[in-house]
Amino acid sequence: MDNFTVAIVGGTGNLGSALALRLGAPGVKIIIGSRDADKAQKAVDTLKPSLRAGEMIGMTNQQAVKDANFVVIAVPYEGQAQMVQDLKGQVAGKIIIDTVVPLNKVKPFVPAAGSALQEAQQILGDEAPVIGALHNISAVDLGDVDSPLGDVLVCGDNAEAKQKVMEIITRIGATAYDAGPASNAYVIEGLTGVIIALNRKYKSKHGSIKITGIGASSGH
Ligand SMILES: NC(=O)c1ccc[n+]([C@@H]2O[C@H](COP(=O)([O-])OP(=O)(O)OC[C@H]3O[C@@H](n4cnc5c(N)ncnc54)[C@H](OP(=O)(O)O)[C@@H]3O)[C@@H](O)[C@H]2O)c1
Repeated sequence: MDNFTVAIVGGTGNLGSALALRLGAPGVKIIIGSRDADKAQKAVDTLKPSLRAGEMIGMTNQQAVKDANFVVIAVPYEGQAQMVQDLKGQVAGKIIIDTVVPLNKVKPFVPAAGSALQEAQQILGDEAPVIGALHNISAVDLGDVDSPLGDVLVCGDNAEAKQKVMEIITRIGATAYDAGPASNAYVIEGLTGVIIALNRKYKSKHGSIKITGIGASSGH
């Protein structure tokens, strides 16, 4: 996977912007998506001076997904269902990377579909596989491109798509673990609630997870 394009839906936000900087590499095109094209362009103007390599452009979420191989969903849970619904019909043949954590303020909850990931997959049906990743990573660490990252649990029901997402995670410098099927997503999403509680308790912005006792594909 040398040349590929990643659209980040909600790329103007904390996680999406941080991920964009991490993705910067030769042959990688990053499209910052927003509900507002001007806001996307402003985010690109801010981020681009810190991009190590590759290309970065900004446009509306709808336009952003068109030429992408990977579509990262990086919007708050409240906006996810409508956003995925709006993108339906335009993401065939692409891999969706879902980072969304269902939170009620800081408290995690389990949506009726079983998880945010499964809800997105239900909306898209067979159009594109949805793979969960990056839920337990701190956006602060992600945006500091020289900072070490926690481990990334990657889950989903499409093995080939999951493998490709794990490759991307490895490329951004984290260790990726195949954490099983989409039905595991609620645990991984919910774990972020625990990390938020730990960050509050121990006054940190860097809480993340480390898996021990298992060899995995490492970005280091
Ligand atoms: N922040 C973290 O450390 C972190 C870590 C792991 C996972 N996550 C997950 O990543 C996702 C994004 O988190 P974040 O902290 O980056 O969020 P955020 O900054 O609050 O929002 C990200 C972007 O989503 C768009 N947005 C906001 N409300 C929306 C709505 N109702 N419908 C559609 N788009 C909307 C906005 O972009 P425009 O206004 O430009 O459209 C915003 O810039 C969340 O689901 C979160 O649970 C975050």
